[in-house]
Amino acid sequence: MYHRGLNGVPCGPREVFVARPDGLAPLTRHYLMCRPTYFAVEYAINPWMDPAAGVDRARALDQWEALRDLYLRLGHRVSEITPIEGLPDMVFAANGALVVDGRVYGARFASAERTPEGPAYLEWFREAGYTETREPKHVNEGEGDFLTLGEVILAATGFRTEAAAHQEAERFLGRPVITLQLTDPRFYHLDTALFALSEDRVVYYPGAFSAGSQRVLRSLYPDALLATEEDAAVLGLNAVCDGRNVVLAAEATGLADRLRALGYTVHPVELDELRKAGGGAKCCTLELRDAPL
Ligand code: ARG
Repeated sequence: MYHRGLNGVPCGPREVFVARPDGLAPLTRHYLMCRPTYFAVEYAINPWMDPAAGVDRARALDQWEALRDLYLRLGHRVSEITPIEGLPDMVFAANGALVVDGRVYGARFASAERTPEGPAYLEWFREAGYTETREPKHVNEGEGDFLTLGEVILAATGFRTEAAAHQEAERFLGRPVITLQLTDPRFYHLDTALFALSEDRVVYYPGAFSAGSQRVLRSLYPDALLATEEDAAVLGLNAVCDGRNVVLAAEATGLADRLRALGYTVHPVELDELRKAGGGAKCCTLELRDAPL
């Protein structure tokens, strides 16, 4: 049976549903992650990446494990996909697909270097028993550029995901998709510029979006928190919120204080090793919005 949670957030029986007086979303989430066993910066496909700088893989592994352990401590379920040698960015699981009501819209990467990740992630879903999967026709980088918020999906274009993929996702997933234009190459995915606290409250850095998209965001989310450039420049918008806890880059101290003042529990995470590839907490985390049992 399909339950409707608070705020209309769909929640299947596999989610622990905590009735909360403040009307926040269910707290327990299911995430897919990929251990950074083969993490490296060997090519540059965004301005954060400098192949000459070198990475400390052991440190990346420690930071990633701390993130996974934090999710488990918060009560979330974490599934893992086996990393593949030669795919150094595979740790950024958010790019692997978009999952809504158990339907899996696959990724098709913009760069040749990451292209094999698309089929690899889709294969994981098929093996895990997801029956409704879609190989995409159009370039899209999964939850990196799509954010499911209640009945709508926000989707970015400008650097990676093509606008045609927004329509493809809309038709396959049956939810209206709202297209937003990214304009600053440092914030090349939607999840580097915006995250959600709840269905009707988002946090974003306006400077990452075109003037038209800023107008759209202002009208859709009048209660949004506007992040500063300092918050954005440490990938502070690449955060994960379960309705109560916010997992946030440790360096985003200004944003952390504002979130605490609103009553959120902030969990600062050190992910600077992965940031050398342009990724943070959210990039490492694909939310599996499972179908009801
Ligand atoms: N180096 C990766 C890329 O440029 C980082 C991906 C970060 N992922 C994300 N969801 N923003 O594709």
